[in-house]
Amino acid sequence: MPQTIRIAIAGLGTVGGAVLRQLHAKAETIALRCGHALEVVAVSARDRTRDRGVSLDDIAWHADALELADITDTAIIVELIGGHEGTARALVEKALQAGKHVVTANKALCAHHGVQLAATAEANHAQLRFEAAIAGGVPVVKTVREALAGNRIREIRGILNGTCNHILTTMTQSRRSYAEALAEAQRLGYAEADPSLDLSGVDAAHKLALLSSLAFGHRPCLDAVRVAGIQAITQEDIGFAREFGYEIRLLAVAKQMRGGEGASGERIEQWARPALVPRDSLLTHVQGARNGISLRGDFGGNLFLAGDGAGGEATASAVVADIMDIACGRRIHPFGAPLAALPQCPSLPETDSHGRFYLRLHAADRPGSMAAVTRELAQAEISIERIMQTATPTQEPASHDSACHEGGAGGAEGNFPPSTKTAHLPVALLTHETRESAMRQAVDALTAKRDIVAAPLLLRVETR
Ligand code: HSE
Repeated sequence: MPQTIRIAIAGLGTVGGAVLRQLHAKAETIALRCGHALEVVAVSARDRTRDRGVSLDDIAWHADALELADITDTAIIVELIGGHEGTARALVEKALQAGKHVVTANKALCAHHGVQLAATAEANHAQLRFEAAIAGGVPVVKTVREALAGNRIREIRGILNGTCNHILTTMTQSRRSYAEALAEAQRLGYAEADPSLDLSGVDAAHKLALLSSLAFGHRPCLDAVRVAGIQAITQEDIGFAREFGYEIRLLAVAKQMRGGEGASGERIEQWARPALVPRDSLLTHVQGARNGISLRGDFGGNLFLAGDGAGGEATASAVVADIMDIACGRRIHPFGAPLAALPQCPSLPETDSHGRFYLRLHAADRPGSMAAVTRELAQAEISIERIMQTATPTQEPASHDSACHEGGAGGAEGNFPPSTKTAHLPVALLTHETRESAMRQAVDALTAKRDIVAAPLLLRVETR
């Protein structure tokens, strides 16, 4: 008689409810494929009365999620509470210490505490699986950790945050403002409970730190991911990007590079921030709340995965796949290899980062202001590829938020700011490849100039 594997679930929100429904609806298929029946024996959530589409009558209810780790006959704890501290962290630690397997969709928890949790899992012969933490229903964790296990991955570039992608594609297609597009994304339920995690790029950084660890075989290091949010992107930037042949997307990129000056060996560059992506790139075809990831392996070649990056059912599909892997007896180290074999991330120093850039600024509409901009860039040995100025002078700079101003957003000289009555013209330019640190210094210098009104916006320009 096949053994029944007992499960407890903490968190019955959109994803947790969908996990319950999928386990119920697919019970026969799961038993057939795993050779074991799965049974949810206990749950914990805030709201007992909410209709989740399945009966909870035969499932024990625990007001305190930590009690789930004490139930002796459960083999798998599913953590869908969220947040990288508090109950979620305490439950996962307690469950792993008790030798129970853990399945979680919690990217923040894994990005912040993955190393310590993986150590606890290893010490207790338990598994920690987090397919649902990255790109919702897109099986990118399994692809990188297992399907491409024999590859040396060179590059990951992805759209990993559905909220930001929805906002930016709405701004691009419907020409709606950032505020309108954000309101719609919130109404549709894509954003995290705290939407600032999405908008600031931090949610994408959590996911990238995990993916980079799996792909490049190092310990996850959130601090190594350079992050910027989308809050400063305006219709003006969307329009300039369109004129240049690009779209603006929040990209998450991790790539292996030769070490910089004085450095030996390969280094990993990781960043999650808005960037200009060519209009014909596969990534620009990833619309709305969908996610897309392009992977480059030395034997597997180029792969592209896309699908629903958020939402109850897609995310539940990934949670259930992890539960089934455990039920089928498949064992895998959380980060693909024993922790002892994983080095710290060999990060590329920021000073060694190179790329092409988009710079948008507002220059006073008077003789010499454009010359001052080009002179500053020339002095920093930054070569301009294209430059564009709109004809309509404006009285107020575009709204902005310093979170996205990757060049220094401050430091005005003594007689700054100029009168807001001075007309000024939006100017946008693309540079040839240059050192990022040189670009930032030039932006700092420009920001301090009397003729530059408000903080400039600096974004990377990608070729694919
Ligand atoms: N808030 C996340 C997103 C949900 O927008 O992508 C999935 O992690």
